[in-house]
Amino acid sequence: MKKHFAALIIALLPGLAFAAGGLEYPLDKVEIDLTDKAAMQDGARTFANYCMGCHSAKFQRYERVADDLGVPHELMLDNLIFNDAKIGDHMKIGMQPDDAKAWFGAVPPDLTLVARVRGTDWLYTYLRTFYDDPSRPLGANNKVFPNVGMPNVLVGLQGKQVIGCKQVQVVEGDKKQFDPLTGTPITHEACDQLAVEPKTGALSEEEFDTKIKNLVTFLAYSANPVKLESQRIGTYVLLYLAFFFVFAYLLKREYWKDVH
Ligand code: HEC
Repeated sequence: MKKHFAALIIALLPGLAFAAGGLEYPLDKVEIDLTDKAAMQDGARTFANYCMGCHSAKFQRYERVADDLGVPHELMLDNLIFNDAKIGDHMKIGMQPDDAKAWFGAVPPDLTLVARVRGTDWLYTYLRTFYDDPSRPLGANNKVFPNVGMPNVLVGLQGKQVIGCKQVQVVEGDKKQFDPLTGTPITHEACDQLAVEPKTGALSEEEFDTKIKNLVTFLAYSANPVKLESQRIGTYVLLYLAFFFVFAYLLKREYWKDVH
């Protein structure tokens, strides 16, 4: 009997997971552009300054990043490498996993491939939804990763984000609702909403979103560095085919000239 009960529970588990999925925080969509080198350079700078204290990108070399993003090696060494690593080294860090476990309760994972594992929308939302939560050991919590061990490292840029009530636009079906007379959005008060307290961060909301978008673009590049290369080669292949087509066509005309 017990056995059957266990089997039943196991059979129901995926259903439970699915039900829980319905409560998940909706992800914000982000369109990234893997040809935008300026964005990726900005993202690499943010990564080196704000993330590499705890996270490595150990399958990636500084030199490769510099070359792919068009950063001269000197600049890379001066601005993005803070330990005694050389340009040809992998992007490793000094923090020991045991220490990290003791400090944060979890080891910060290597981020080289995280964009493939989690997806860019997830990363974009995760990095923008840290909020103040005094009940957590490090004072911060996260909307898409509840009870995360990572502290809110970007709070200085984003500002103090809290959960509270604010006016949000009414949406019916998929349509945002506007007042038919004045054209102003119809709003209602909703609680359990994220809101940044004004003037608590160095960046405006828009600037912060762009900063994170750039960081996510860098992480997406890092998870698939050959993508840039394939696009570049792809362009040459297409150009070559177009060029070759002209001669193939002329040759065909030549062959068929006397056939009637
Ligand atoms: C002070 C140390 C620290 C810093 C700095 C830090 N993180 Fe983290 N991060 C962590 C820890 C610890 C975890 C593991 C959290 C857990 O499992 O609960 C984590 C988890 C993550 C995850 C989730 C990985 C996964 O798939 O589970 C991502 C993504 C991430 N960090 C990105 C970043 C980025 C991007 C930055 C720079 C803006 C950054 N982190 C800076 C400590 C840090």
